[in-house]
Amino acid sequence: VASGLNATDSFLVCLIGAGVPPRLLQTPASPSYSATLLSSLRNLRYVTSDIQRPVAIVAATEPAHAQAAVRCGRRHGVRVRARSGGHDYEGLSYASLDPRERFAVLDLAAFRDVRVDSARAEAWAGSGATLGEVYYAVAAASRVLAFPAGICPTVGVGGHLSGGGFGTLMRRYGLAADNVIDAVLVDADGRLLNRTTMGEDLFWAIRGGGGESFGVILSWKLRLVRVPETVTVFTVRRSINQSASQLITKWQAIAPALPSDLILRVAVRSQPARFEALFLGRCSRLLEHMRAHFPDLGVTQSDCEEISWIQSTVYFAFYSSSKPLELLLDRSGETPRYVKAKSDYVQEPIPRHVWERTWSWLEKPEAGLLILDPYGGRMGSISPSATPFPHRKGNLYNLQYYSYWFENGTAALEKRMSWVRGLYEEMEPYVSKNPRTGYVNYRDLDLGTNELEDNVTSYARARIWGEKYFKGNFERLAAVKAMADPDDFFRNEQSIPPLPAAK
Ligand code: FDA
Repeated sequence: VASGLNATDSFLVCLIGAGVPPRLLQTPASPSYSATLLSSLRNLRYVTSDIQRPVAIVAATEPAHAQAAVRCGRRHGVRVRARSGGHDYEGLSYASLDPRERFAVLDLAAFRDVRVDSARAEAWAGSGATLGEVYYAVAAASRVLAFPAGICPTVGVGGHLSGGGFGTLMRRYGLAADNVIDAVLVDADGRLLNRTTMGEDLFWAIRGGGGESFGVILSWKLRLVRVPETVTVFTVRRSINQSASQLITKWQAIAPALPSDLILRVAVRSQPARFEALFLGRCSRLLEHMRAHFPDLGVTQSDCEEISWIQSTVYFAFYSSSKPLELLLDRSGETPRYVKAKSDYVQEPIPRHVWERTWSWLEKPEAGLLILDPYGGRMGSISPSATPFPHRKGNLYNLQYYSYWFENGTAALEKRMSWVRGLYEEMEPYVSKNPRTGYVNYRDLDLGTNELEDNVTSYARARIWGEKYFKGNFERLAAVKAMADPDDFFRNEQSIPPLPAAK
């Protein structure tokens, strides 16, 4: 390393020495730095001037570049934050709350190959692929194969799979992470490992424990699942005077107990509430289920649309099944916005009078929306320790509080944030307790952030937020961290700390 260079310069010199082409490296002085930084960013709350930005962006195109980023980063005191789709709710893949933090973004957007082996019902997907790209590639290879993951097509594979990942097929097939059978990872020593060479503990940790604590996952081998050529979707809307509160109250016990090839979720942004369903079969059979289990919802044949599974992904993402499938390949996504979200797990139905009161929250001008995703089915039959994601049997549904807005400035920010936080506080008596749990992929820094002790993330402090996401799996995650990254190189505001030796 040339003398007189600062850490960032030394890092860059090291990368170039390791064969990373300079055109893949950007610093704040580079003309395209801001455009690259903003390219997949989804939350404008993390682009303000008081937020620490990366000292460099490494737009890796080969595994060796990612390995060099880790090795050079360790050597020169520049941490690495992997970014796949950039959808982290708290911006942790590209921003830091700590003004002293010196980190580089390792941008994986170029790792987006999806290779499908339909005969084996398997696929390899790069971390930088979007869910839409995975769905499109799978459907192009077969009409009866699918992959169970989230609804938003621009979400990145890397963050989504490493944090769990649920969507419309979860009641039949579980999480995206439940359907990962191998992965390629760069570890804290810059080695390239697969499932066999990383070992089962590390492979366990990256399927739901959040990838950012353990290494950089470059690609994932997926088990594809079977779907019929024709599936059925519907959306019915019910307002307060169409018994919306009563229907939501009943829905809480009914939806998690429906047959596993049917998901019925609810989204509420003021009136009317939307009841959205996907059934892995024809309309006639779906109507039989609805009549048997939830006649009050009043679903009729005219509500049904019989389409292919891939059209159903377009339907849930864009509210229409007739839009072109190629929309799934559009990586630009929605207009940039400010976002705040929180989540809960509901284990007992929330009483009707609470839902009636909730309308006054939903009708405020600054209101966001509530999304209720029912569990049960396959989600209830997987052991809570099979992966780090512990929210299995006993959880009726995930309740997400989601607010987004476009106006800049503190007034808008404070109003929206206090809406989300206020409603979350009001729901406390009715949701999971000891701890009050949440979903790591709906990242929420209000649950707690890390502190350092002797330059290592404090285990005691991290438990506060960690057990909310991972319950009893948190300690095992910390033990894996102590083995895989004892120096705590891969860290952020909510990374898993190494388990202290004395524990
Ligand atoms: P991003 O690149 O921001 O990464 C998120 C975190 O993972 C960061 O800490 C990052 O460092 C780390 N990371 C990313 N790639 C990595 C890699 N290759 N190796 C190691 N660490 C890595 N969830 C869900 O389950 N179902 C859903 O339907 C939706 N829908 C949805 C819609 C919208 C609009 C948003 C913004 C989010 C969702 N989510 C979701 C949540 C989503 O699953 C979550 O934000 C994911 O972490 C996003 O993954 P990205 O790769 O896009 O994020």
